[in-house]
Amino acid sequence: MLNLVEYASDPRLVPLGCAVPSPELLAAGRLDQFLARAARVKGVEYNVYTAPGGDAALRQEICRRALRWGQSWSPEDVVITCGCIEALTLALKAVARSGDTIAIESPTYFGLLHVLEALGLKALELPTDAQHGVDLAALARALDGKSVSACLFASSFNNPLGCTMPDTRKLELLQLLTKHRVTLIEDDIFGDIYFGAERPKPFGALEPAADTIYCSSFSKTIAPGYRIGWLAAGRHRQAVLLQKLASTLATPALTQAALTDFLSCGGYDSHLRRIRRVFAGNIDRMTRAIERCFPAGTRVSRPAGGFVLWVELPGPVDTRVLFGEAVKLGICFAPGDVFSASDRYRHCLRLSCGYGWDERIEEGIETIGALAAGHAEVTRAPVRGFPRGPCNGFRST
Ligand SMILES: Cc1ncc(COP(=O)(O)O)c(C=O)c1O
Repeated sequence: MLNLVEYASDPRLVPLGCAVPSPELLAAGRLDQFLARAARVKGVEYNVYTAPGGDAALRQEICRRALRWGQSWSPEDVVITCGCIEALTLALKAVARSGDTIAIESPTYFGLLHVLEALGLKALELPTDAQHGVDLAALARALDGKSVSACLFASSFNNPLGCTMPDTRKLELLQLLTKHRVTLIEDDIFGDIYFGAERPKPFGALEPAADTIYCSSFSKTIAPGYRIGWLAAGRHRQAVLLQKLASTLATPALTQAALTDFLSCGGYDSHLRRIRRVFAGNIDRMTRAIERCFPAGTRVSRPAGGFVLWVELPGPVDTRVLFGEAVKLGICFAPGDVFSASDRYRHCLRLSCGYGWDERIEEGIETIGALAAGHAEVTRAPVRGFPRGPCNGFRST
């Protein structure tokens, strides 16, 4: 995984590997102005440990935003973290001990698999499809049969599938977990990047009494480098705060102050509107390029938010081998097996649409398609379209 992260941040490679927006799209210029001003005007004041829960004004801004999607938190409910990855780590440490089993989506974000391994937790991979999300029957069987300590699922636009469970299924899932007294840790990092009319509701917003820990960050929208995330841990707040003390103690004050000013001046909403439009356009263009250049029988996800595409290749192909070939040609993508703890998805890959569409990206897709066609050795067939469902399905070439 380290290799992949290094390749993904190598500016010499065509950037289809890392699920992060390009610096141009992040357009963090205004945010940086707030950072510079905070350092100039109150640098000494911010050169401190903040309270473990984080900057009170930032927590207030986060609560204001959460109200829009129906989540009524008070600033005391929110703990600021160093990115979403720390939020997930603290949540897991608060509800599980080494050796416990955590039910997760499959495929899932590879960083989560790494965290589980580092904490000595076992991953129970539940089948997850691009249209319906987590397989609820499989989850019910797991809860009946095995001692699942917690579940960790995406609230919306799962990375890499891009799927979002419809509200009715989210509620069904919560009922199951309530019956078995199992905590749900939800990762809503892509929640603000929706292409439809409304932001999908996190699980906790649908059923406030449910035992959920909400995790998110600003990394996918405005400031991956600021490393600011947060969680709302409900009844686990105290346990989370204790873990925060043993983890990073406090989140840097200066970046929190800059983000607070940015959020309170209203700049974030117009920024979100802009990047949503760009990501939706990128996804359409990349999907068309895949339909044009990839071997017949390829299936590509149809996400209704986020900025990654999940591609299933036909035929006997190992995307690890493909990855090695692509890197040699100056192109990066994420091979499918990194999204599983049990070496699945060798015939799949994830492409990031986080960079503005240009010739270099288009040529990168064409080259991966040609490499894949070389491996798959199948002939092209007419495009078969799948209607976009309530979440999203697949499209086949
Ligand atoms: C689904 C998901 N969760 C969490 C993270 C980590 O986020 P952060 O950079 O805020 O720590 C990522 C980053 O790629 C992600 O894709």
